[in-house]
Amino acid sequence: MNMHSSAAAACPFAGKDGSADTAFADDVVAGLGQPEQKVLSPKYFYDAAGSALFEQITVLPEYYPTRTELGILKARGKDIAAIIPDGAALIEFGAGATTKVRLLLERGRLGRRLGAYVPVDISGEFLAGQARDLRHDYPALTVLPVVADFTTAFALPAEVAAMPKVGFFPGSTLGNFEPDEARAFLRSARALLGAGAILIIGIDLEKDETLLRAAYNDAAGVTARFNLNLLVRINRELGGNFDLSGFTHRAVYNHERHRIEMHLISRKAQTVRVLGHSVPFRTGETIHTENSYKYSLDRFSALARSSGWRTQQSWTDPDAMFSVHALRAEAD
Ligand code: AVJ
Repeated sequence: MNMHSSAAAACPFAGKDGSADTAFADDVVAGLGQPEQKVLSPKYFYDAAGSALFEQITVLPEYYPTRTELGILKARGKDIAAIIPDGAALIEFGAGATTKVRLLLERGRLGRRLGAYVPVDISGEFLAGQARDLRHDYPALTVLPVVADFTTAFALPAEVAAMPKVGFFPGSTLGNFEPDEARAFLRSARALLGAGAILIIGIDLEKDETLLRAAYNDAAGVTARFNLNLLVRINRELGGNFDLSGFTHRAVYNHERHRIEMHLISRKAQTVRVLGHSVPFRTGETIHTENSYKYSLDRFSALARSSGWRTQQSWTDPDAMFSVHALRAEAD
């Protein structure tokens, strides 16, 4: 099953569960069985339909993150490429589509200076296609794809062992992680890449709440369809009987926790069947489907520092909507 749409944006969660239908079933049954707050994981958004909807989100007028990060990579690509040493291995976590790395490869002949480009993604089929296209466009570039879930331990190809390491993790995907999960990811990336390594990472910034709410409650209703697609997927893959007209999408900003929360709200008292379980809903009861954490430059630097990294440089757009950071791995 190819979980990516052909034009899928870099989304590391794409197809994460592709070979683990039982994990999806177990997570859904456990999440909908929570007595206080029903919950589903955002990693399950990205089936083929969800990946296509996410692609539509990235070009919505209200959804600033993707276009702003691309703008930073374009405007600052030269500076970013300049800190990547000759002969380095560039390791992209959750590579997906290669749109963003191409903005770097085009700068300062980086495509010819790199020792290797190592895209890491769970979807082997999609990765192979992206690798083929990159080899075609950059014949001098050694492309070494790794099929792995980058949130769990994986090994780098033996060929890159002696090369300087530079990690690349754009898209503010770290925002989907709880703070302790984010620290765990940064620590394991530090262990994988080694002392002296660089990590180039995209992080969405805290900003006016009106802009945040608009970005996740778009006027065209694409984000609503993206959120509701989770129920479509449960109906199709797990034989659920969710009535889609019985739920509405809402994204709210949680100030204390600095995060956008997406919910699906039950419009009425109803009972849904999933995999032999009855799931009761009160009117107004919600399923919490996603957190998207927003950082200040200082809070992100502190998070990085507590995870074995030091901020070397940070870049933002003129309106300080989004940020890209170059982190340096601290010595052991
Ligand atoms: C892919 C996690 C960065 O949090 O902005 C977009 C996902 N959810 N609209 C984000 C998403 C709703 C996105 N990330």
